[in-house]
Amino acid sequence: MITQEAIKAFETIHTPFYYYDMDLLNKTLQIYTSLTNKYGYSAHYALKANANPKILSAIQKAGLGADCVSGNEVALAVKSGFPAEKIVYAGVGKSDMEIKTALKAGIFSFNCESVPEIKIINDLAASMGKVAHIALRINPDIDAHTHKYISTGRKEDKFGISPWMFEGVAGLFESCNNIKLMGLHFHVGSQILDMSVFELLCRRIEELQGWFVEHGYPIANINMGGGLGVDYINPGEHPIADFESYFGVINKNLKVRPGQTVHFEPGRAIVAQCGHLVSRVLYVKIGQRKKFVILDAGMNDLIRPALYQAHHDIENLTSQKRKMRYDVVGPVCESSDKFASNVMLPQTKRGDLVAIHTAGAYGQVMAMRYNQRDIAKAYYSDEL
Ligand code: LLP
Repeated sequence: MITQEAIKAFETIHTPFYYYDMDLLNKTLQIYTSLTNKYGYSAHYALKANANPKILSAIQKAGLGADCVSGNEVALAVKSGFPAEKIVYAGVGKSDMEIKTALKAGIFSFNCESVPEIKIINDLAASMGKVAHIALRINPDIDAHTHKYISTGRKEDKFGISPWMFEGVAGLFESCNNIKLMGLHFHVGSQILDMSVFELLCRRIEELQGWFVEHGYPIANINMGGGLGVDYINPGEHPIADFESYFGVINKNLKVRPGQTVHFEPGRAIVAQCGHLVSRVLYVKIGQRKKFVILDAGMNDLIRPALYQAHHDIENLTSQKRKMRYDVVGPVCESSDKFASNVMLPQTKRGDLVAIHTAGAYGQVMAMRYNQRDIAKAYYSDEL
């Protein structure tokens, strides 16, 4: 929750802006790492969720590695102090230049998503006199029961290597001397709150790795990906994701073989709740059937509601009046530039400050300059 002290400080800041509660981030990291330490798991933070330098620094200091999906993310992770041996790199379309960046850095693992990609990584590694450590990103054909745009583990999704491609992969291993198979990687989707999805994934992993072991390819590490969801409806009640249930389910259901290490790639669950998009009300427009709160923040600042019909809790930080029903919209010239329909907010007027909560993950990183709008700046609780 945003303190009264912070709200006072907001009065002098140009809106819209992102506000990060660093105490909450550090508390989240502390709980997360106490559990990964307890179970002996390794974690690589998914930079794509939020790559602000201060956020990365806190996460790196907490001891997490980095999960990257582009050459620039790999370079940023290295620059931000993440040790190369804790960096993993996934993505269906790694360019030659990006692969070379990661080879030069000497990362822990390329999470490979297709047979042709493995061949190219081998050839580029050979040309640089290196051996690339790889994991196969497997498509386990699991429905994560989340929004279709953030489901990644069904066989019709573009991600990963499907079981019917395993023979082809094995054929490659015979002829490629500059790759070393270290692990299997899985990531079935994002914002997953149904723990049975992770339970099912654990069972599928056991079945799928059986194929590799039987064919003489021992698997040194299993990477479970990210995906744990957070509470967008009641962020104040659940500011920290349910890491305990999540790791409990995995510890109970994942059969870890002797000597094997287990890895995770959390993004949203680490940073979502510590971030808020703070905006000022420009106008309240009273229609015949609707009342519109028009903010100075738009879909270019936070695209999740427009792109995934995502719900974000909205709070009027400066009014305690009687509640009324509003649609909360932005200034961008698109009807999809809407943060919420029919929400109850205290009676709102021009100049009120509004916070859109749970915006720390996939908020600022997905901002764009549509309509030539400025990119919102970031402010941090320990610097106000
Ligand atoms: N690992 C891989 C390979 C991924 O593709 C992702 C996210 C993660 C880890 C981190 O997943 P998380 O723990 O954050 O669920 N923009 C969308 C989310 C896209 C997720 C993409 N992949 C949103 O705003 O909901």
